[in-house]
Amino acid sequence: MHPSAVAHVPVMLAEVTEVLAPVLAQPGAVLVDATLGLGGHSVALLKTFPNVRLIGIDRDPKALVIAADRLSEFGERVSLHQARYDQINDILVGLQVDCVDGVFMDLGVSSMQLDLPDRGFAYSQDAPLDMRMNPADVLTAAEIVNTYDVQALARILREYGEERFATRIAQAIVRERGQAPFTTSSRLSDVVKQAIPAAARRTGGNPLKRTFQGLRIEVNDELGSLRRAMPQVLQVLCLRGRIAVLTYHSLEDRIVKQALRLGAAPSVPAEVHRVLGAPEPWLRLLTRGGATPGPGEVQANPRAASARLRAAERIGWAA
Ligand SMILES: C[S@@+](CC[C@H](N)C(=O)[O-])C[C@H]1O[C@@H](n2cnc3c(N)ncnc32)[C@H](O)[C@@H]1O
Repeated sequence: MHPSAVAHVPVMLAEVTEVLAPVLAQPGAVLVDATLGLGGHSVALLKTFPNVRLIGIDRDPKALVIAADRLSEFGERVSLHQARYDQINDILVGLQVDCVDGVFMDLGVSSMQLDLPDRGFAYSQDAPLDMRMNPADVLTAAEIVNTYDVQALARILREYGEERFATRIAQAIVRERGQAPFTTSSRLSDVVKQAIPAAARRTGGNPLKRTFQGLRIEVNDELGSLRRAMPQVLQVLCLRGRIAVLTYHSLEDRIVKQALRLGAAPSVPAEVHRVLGAPEPWLRLLTRGGATPGPGEVQANPRAASARLRAAERIGWAA
């Protein structure tokens, strides 16, 4: 077994299990794990709910190899697919599945992606500037830092990395690449650190975290994929089906929150409202405001610290 598979602890597993239990306990229940990763949550859910059939999706072919190994004990109950989660409709059509009882998403990168230096996700080690979740994709982090102009770089760092000093860092990157293109993370790290004022460098955690987050989100079009996926993952739920999503930063959390709210409190233009009345909600929120892990879990697993669980049940049909 891959060492990451051993080290990885599924985040908020008890809460995810509890919120999906009413649908997964039913005979013949079908669950989509749209971010299979190393299969941590899926293994646990398949063991807890012996009736469940799992459709596992991940865009990372290496994650799928490890997950396939871990899930082999469940045989025919599992089917695995290399795809982005915004391709879920196509996958279900291919499987001739009309609707599913549960959808689970655990957003972001896996511990395996962070642990393998050659993937270039971890800022703590010198590595090629890659960060592609699917190595067959074209855009790499190196391409971004070596070709985007100052404005485009600054936007990524500000919007996706929530970096205060985005313009200063972008200007420094463009200046330095004039000497030689960036190939590895250590030189980029030096340039980013130098671009941040000394006083700010001492506060606010590792300054590289924000730049790396911004690059990773751009490389993988993470927010675009999530925006395209949310309407689909809600539409594929059967009546009384449930969705549970774990987010790790405010940008992805906002997209999930807004998509769930649209179904829980649909709004229509005032003129339509006057004539037809208020539209019926077709989702029921199961975690108002989002649930967070308990202090014990955060202490045992630092990755859980920023997690937020949002869940909903389908109670009707969208107008
Ligand atoms: C946090 S990990 C999931 C960990 C998993 N729950 C476990 O317990 O092992 C997130 C996974 O989602 C995958 N992923 C991220 N964005 C994706 C997308 N748009 N479509 C499909 N998979 C995606 C990543 O490749 C990664 O393997």
